[in-house]
Amino acid sequence: MNILITGASRGLGYELAAEALERGHAVIAGARGGGSVKLAKLSEEYGGGDRLAIAELDVTDEAGIQALAAKLKQEGRTLGAIINNAAILNARDTQIEDLDMADVAATFEINLYGPMRVAKHFLPLLTEENAAFFNISSESGCITNAYPGDYPYSISKTALNMFSEQLHRYLRPRGVQVLSIHPGWIKTDMGSERAPGDPRASARGILDLLERRVVPENHRFRFVDFTGKELPI
Ligand SMILES: NC(=O)c1ccc[n+]([C@@H]2O[C@H](COP(=O)([O-])OP(=O)(O)OC[C@H]3O[C@@H](n4cnc5c(N)ncnc54)[C@H](OP(=O)(O)O)[C@@H]3O)[C@@H](O)[C@H]2O)c1
Repeated sequence: MNILITGASRGLGYELAAEALERGHAVIAGARGGGSVKLAKLSEEYGGGDRLAIAELDVTDEAGIQALAAKLKQEGRTLGAIINNAAILNARDTQIEDLDMADVAATFEINLYGPMRVAKHFLPLLTEENAAFFNISSESGCITNAYPGDYPYSISKTALNMFSEQLHRYLRPRGVQVLSIHPGWIKTDMGSERAPGDPRASARGILDLLERRVVPENHRFRFVDFTGKELPI
């Protein structure tokens, strides 16, 4: 399967790329500024080129996204999965009275409009069998367990869950599996060293869902954790 992953330079995105390669998939690793040293090393390990293509992909740059989709189309590439992983977490614990609306806008540009831009331009390439469209979300977007903080991030993830739900209904006739996935609280730059979870273990769970080795519980909404357990919307 050909898998496109956004934000693959580090954190969960990098682990998803590494895990997918280990399982024999081909990866298009979307990254800003040419990627990272880690990603370059991974590319070397897999012989560069075909198995792991590092592609310039800033999810705020619609023209860049469109150009990358056109390039892949021209090369005759298809996709079996799209994983919208790139995100930011800013204005932590800032209360509403002090919130800088520029932080909200910046978050929405990446966490919500990013996946929407990616869907807009890459969906036509998602033509492989048993295809998947995954949005990496967060339990902090869950309305049922809302807390007063992380306003930009949490609200962006709630909206992302809505987008997943809409895409699920749109793509169901084509048999595409659409999920919003909470990866757990994991040790990455975003999650911090205090996080209990291992990002590689989350990546393994997400790949199990993608390969349909794990089938999510029979649930009403498409919001699950990385083990396939249903989460409240
Ligand atoms: N860590 C957790 O505990 C946790 C919990 C719940 C949900 N999540 C979700 O899991 C996903 C991965 O998070 P993480 O912990 O791996 O975060 P991270 O370590 O902060 O990594 C974020 C990734 O997103 C990329 N990115 C940021 N802005 C971008 C843009 N405009 N265009 C393209 N890429 C961009 C970064 O690229 P650069 O290297 O170029 O900055 C980086 O690769 C996110 O969706 C996050 O919300 C994480």
